[in-house]
Amino acid sequence: MGIFSELEKIAQSIPNYLNLSNCDPPVYGYVLEKSTQQKIDQLQISKFLGYPSWNGDEKLRQSLSQRIQKMCNVEILPDKIVMTYGVSEGFSLTFDALFHNNSGSVAIPDPSYIPLIVQAQRFSNIWFYTCGEELNWNPDLDQLVTSLEKYPETKALVIITPNSPTGAVYSEKILKELINIAGQYNLTIITDEIYDSLSFSKFVSPLEFAQEIPVIYLNGFSKVYRLPGYRLGYLGWYDPLEKYPNVWPYLKHLCKARLGVTSIAQEIAKIALQESQEAILNFVESIHKKSVFFTEQLQSIHGISVVPAQGGTYVFPKITYNIDDEMLSKYLLKTYKIYVTPGSAYGLAPAKNHLRFVTLESYEALFKGINALKKALQALGK
Ligand SMILES: Cc1ncc(COP(=O)(O)O)c(C=O)c1O
Repeated sequence: MGIFSELEKIAQSIPNYLNLSNCDPPVYGYVLEKSTQQKIDQLQISKFLGYPSWNGDEKLRQSLSQRIQKMCNVEILPDKIVMTYGVSEGFSLTFDALFHNNSGSVAIPDPSYIPLIVQAQRFSNIWFYTCGEELNWNPDLDQLVTSLEKYPETKALVIITPNSPTGAVYSEKILKELINIAGQYNLTIITDEIYDSLSFSKFVSPLEFAQEIPVIYLNGFSKVYRLPGYRLGYLGWYDPLEKYPNVWPYLKHLCKARLGVTSIAQEIAKIALQESQEAILNFVESIHKKSVFFTEQLQSIHGISVVPAQGGTYVFPKITYNIDDEMLSKYLLKTYKIYVTPGSAYGLAPAKNHLRFVTLESYEALFKGINALKKALQALGK
């Protein structure tokens, strides 16, 4: 985490640096379609002053149950869904609920989303399973099985698809294999699907194949619905055989202890869910085009190789020259005023010598980033 403080410190002395690391859709003009936004603007906010319920608005949870059915072909009833302060709070609730009374560990994809790693570490032991660049960033299943043999106390497996930071979208085949392994080793699946509709090809949810395996399903409104400022997410508990009858009551206890999540945000979410499919498809088309453009530009740079992202807002190129990624990101910021995060912050070996770019910016800005990277690699040599 030290590298982020260092980058922050450098950034403070550089006015108007270009941030190619910020996955905040509205900042780059990606907002809800006008008619939906107008409905939100008409809300009488003074109507929502009272405490919300611990699990969230019933109608909203009904709509989310329908959305899960549509995206995952599986039913999670509204009474097993709880609204959260973003997926971020969903992480801490999840790891607390699964690990507060035992000493198990959790298998986390490498590379992975940093706040997820941090929250998992608060409540459990963690270990990483490799997602290999040579496997198009898919999980290395043999290595996963070998590690499960080594760590028999493992209780849960995290899956992120579309993946942050790699942009991988797992196929049905890979997901079925992962679920099989989870079944063999008696693992609960934790699935983070915050980028679900932002897939450039067919999206498949791990939940679809879970059958009797327990799943904690995490999703939210920050990406597909472009509302990160309202800090709204949701957690669904799926355990058809009631293998773990204590998990839901404990989640309820945790959520009751923090009362509920902001009521106006939930009211806005109900409206956002009615946005036209066309508006979401336009958003996906725009980010897909930018991702392809950025990837093609990267492929023309000596010293860079890149696996094209299949979804989400990230491109995760490898520096093939012998240059340290942390040093390169500091150099890019100091010399060219481009803020980009070093891959090694996202995990162990597979993420080393990578850079994580967010491709939501304008084409002009993305091109500026490409030019800076080109010049930096020329200057730093091999
Ligand atoms: C994989 C992943 N999960 C969760 C989040 C954060 O979600 P939220 O804004 O709902 O807390 C992000 C944000 O970038 C993410 O990349």
